[in-house]
Amino acid sequence: MDHLFQLGDHEDFFSRRCIWVNGPVIVGAGPSGLATAACLREQGVPFVVLERADCIASLWQKRTYDRLKLHLPKQFCQLPKLPFPEDFPEYPTKRQFIDYLESYAKHFEINPKFNECVQSARYDETSGLWRVKTVSSTRTEVEYICRWLVVATGENAECVTPDIQGLADFGGQVMHACQYKSGEKFKGKKVLVVGCGNSGMEVSLDLCNHNASPAMVVRSAVHVLPREICGKSTFELAVLMMKWLPLWLVDKLMLIMAWFVLGNTESYGLKRPSMGPLQLKNSMGKTPVLDIGALEKIRSGDIQVVPGIKRFSCGQVELVNGQKLDIDSVVLATGYRSNVPSWLQESEFFSKNGFPKAPFPHGWRGKAGLYAVGFTKRGLSGASSDAMRIAEDIGNMWKKETKQKKTTTRACHRRCISQL
Ligand SMILES: Cc1cc2nc3c(=O)[nH]c(=O)nc-3n(C[C@H](O)[C@H](O)[C@H](O)COP(=O)(O)OP(=O)(O)OC[C@H]3O[C@@H](n4cnc5c(N)ncnc54)[C@H](O)[C@@H]3O)c2cc1C
Ligand SMILES: NC(=O)c1ccc[n+]([C@@H]2O[C@H](COP(=O)([O-])OP(=O)(O)OC[C@H]3O[C@@H](n4cnc5c(N)ncnc54)[C@H](OP(=O)(O)O)[C@@H]3O)[C@@H](O)[C@H]2O)c1
Repeated sequence: MDHLFQLGDHEDFFSRRCIWVNGPVIVGAGPSGLATAACLREQGVPFVVLERADCIASLWQKRTYDRLKLHLPKQFCQLPKLPFPEDFPEYPTKRQFIDYLESYAKHFEINPKFNECVQSARYDETSGLWRVKTVSSTRTEVEYICRWLVVATGENAECVTPDIQGLADFGGQVMHACQYKSGEKFKGKKVLVVGCGNSGMEVSLDLCNHNASPAMVVRSAVHVLPREICGKSTFELAVLMMKWLPLWLVDKLMLIMAWFVLGNTESYGLKRPSMGPLQLKNSMGKTPVLDIGALEKIRSGDIQVVPGIKRFSCGQVELVNGQKLDIDSVVLATGYRSNVPSWLQESEFFSKNGFPKAPFPHGWRGKAGLYAVGFTKRGLSGASSDAMRIAEDIGNMWKKETKQKKTTTRACHRRCISQL
């Protein structure tokens, strides 16, 4: 601890409130951060969770649409150490999932520091500690100093809003899918949904169900799979098959089964990528769409599939095939990105795109006490397994160090430092 006072930029260090954290700092109170905190709690390791929003699981609470349900069966979505309540349906609703996360946080006594947005985090070589700077909603700055840093800010921290020619002149309502709640307000309106991932498909379906007329932009290829095959979850079937069969063969079987259930999706303008769905997911991180009804609406013509966009103009969009459509509103279901490069001052473990460089399953632990949870493009189940590994790793070090400290404990000087 004494070398804390030998940190480089001395003035900067003393100009803000500093807090020494006994244990790791976890950045983000989404499912990944909560899972890590719960596993650490079980190991007896203290921690601090920093969250920019005013609630846990802000993505689920504030940036998702009303009709959202988990797309995968519940056993693949529950967090470690506490299963979903038995009366939850196979595919819990967004509300049920949030309730579960609230009770999860309560059960493990996880009390994040809300409204604290991490602005920067860097490893201080001299002290061997991480310096994590936050700014709160009241513009108060705090610096947390810790031995371990767990990055749990998610793969979907920021919305991707493409810069499309003429969009500024469009004149109608433009929103990202993260702001879309329901199709209620779009009744009778012509809406252009840009993107055909799980969000684009479901927003288009929701618009149809509210008597709006959606046109969905499909600029490249997409794998659409049924959510279930013969009453069994497609995801579960794939997991099962992968235990015995090579990936390419599982991909082939999945596509044959999808063809039997959905027919030829290419005939509706949904061209399939040349790579199979699992291979594409593993190599490029591109999630296949699990169909929950949009395809039926595409077949019936209620959702119009259109090619890429050339430009927008007032009340109109021109497509790459020259077709012009009159539209009232635009929903950009154009995806999300990680925000790690904007605050983590580190380039060895994380790459420029905000994901760990090491491929799965090696991307959970960096050097100098740095960890990443929930960046494997494997949804909630991937986050849970990262969380368990991280907690075990930190737990082992914690036990070793606290045991040693019992024999070598000495008073240390903490002039400006409060302790957590
Ligand atoms: C519409 C939608 C539906 C989805 N449905 C499923 C599904 O059914 N099944 C599935 O497995 N996955 C699903 N996902 C993927 C989803 O991202 C994960 O399941 C899950 O939310 C990931 O949890 P996380 O904690 O890693 O990230 P997040 O849930 O994004 O949580 C990260 C937290 O970090 C906080 N944060 C970010 N930056 C900072 C900062 N600088 N300082 C402090 N706090 C910060 C954020 O506010 C947020 O609360 C869905 C994603 C979307 C967008
Ligand atoms: N219930 C659920 O489980 C559920 C629901 C919704 C979302 N999710 C998850 O949330 C994550 C994000 O999904 P998402 O659908 O929001 O994003 P996404 O999967 O990244 O899809 C983004 C889509 O936008 C398109 N796009 C991007 N820029 C474009 C442009 N300029 N013009 C035209 N099209 C453009 C992409 O096309 P290209 O492919 O050509 O780039 C793609 O079709 C995924 O992991 C997804 O599985 C889950």
